[in-house]
Amino acid sequence: MTNKIPLLIDTDPGVDDALALLMAFDSPVHDIVGLTIAAGNVGLRHTVANALKLCEVVGRDDVPVFAGADAPLLHAAPDAAYVHGQDGFGDTGYVPATRQADAEHAALAILRLSHAHAGKLLLVALGPLTNIALALKLDPTLPTRVARFVVMGGAVTAHGNITPAAEFNVYFDPEAVKIVFDAFPRFELADWEATIAHGFPHASVEAWLGVGTARARFYDDISRQNRTWSSNRRGDHWFAADALAMAWVLAPGGALETVDRPVEVDLGHGPGRGATVVDWNRQAGRPDNARILMRYDQQRFEGMVEAALAAGIG
Ligand code: RIB
Ligand code: CA
Repeated sequence: MTNKIPLLIDTDPGVDDALALLMAFDSPVHDIVGLTIAAGNVGLRHTVANALKLCEVVGRDDVPVFAGADAPLLHAAPDAAYVHGQDGFGDTGYVPATRQADAEHAALAILRLSHAHAGKLLLVALGPLTNIALALKLDPTLPTRVARFVVMGGAVTAHGNITPAAEFNVYFDPEAVKIVFDAFPRFELADWEATIAHGFPHASVEAWLGVGTARARFYDDISRQNRTWSSNRRGDHWFAADALAMAWVLAPGGALETVDRPVEVDLGHGPGRGATVVDWNRQAGRPDNARILMRYDQQRFEGMVEAALAAGIG
């Protein structure tokens, strides 16, 4: 029996997902009870393979990996291969992990693990919310067993990254987001705007990647295409959305400012589809369902990322 916090991560690896997972793997106070894999950044075949490969690289084949939904609930959506590479890990042609994913579907694994760790489970969503929505449709009591739920997604003042108004994870499956937002009375939201307020100078990232560990070399390889694209497209800082969300997960005390507000998602098919609409003035009378991250301790964040790359063997 452990006193560690049971941590279940739903993810669509993805370059920034990989950094978040590296941060989580070495947390001394968290026990990763599973990785449930979504389609999103790239197709499910690749996101599953990437999760298995990352576990192998860091020697964590003890972490179960569960494949989930291979598409959004209702409407098709574009992937983010242009950001992460066609395979989601920078198209390096890595040798696939020998391990296969577990046979259990991600949605069923989420429910089973919620019972196994009822009242203590720390659930983190780093990709589209399709798997969590499916779990909720199977068992609407899921939220009663989750101690803390952190979501990377949204753009709280509509500064999107996949459309002018929407952030990728939400835009990929907004119907899943509505199911999830309606089901959880309270969740924590690390959005895209918080991400771009907590970027890293490319020079710092390159220094961290040169630390000489096997994981740093692997991450240098899989992130190179993404960092080049980011430098050309977004300038002298690099942004890792899932890593910021994971910093908040692992070290909640690093959050310097949060605000609680009602948040809902636009399911229309116009320019606002996938927008996370925040009722900043509480005009609609709905309860505050989201705790929104506004500021995180940047120095602490950077220290966690640097340490995650420096951990393990050379
Ligand atoms: O908008 C950023 C999010 O979309 C991150 O989770 C990234 O991995 C992509 O899934
Ligand atoms: Ca992601």
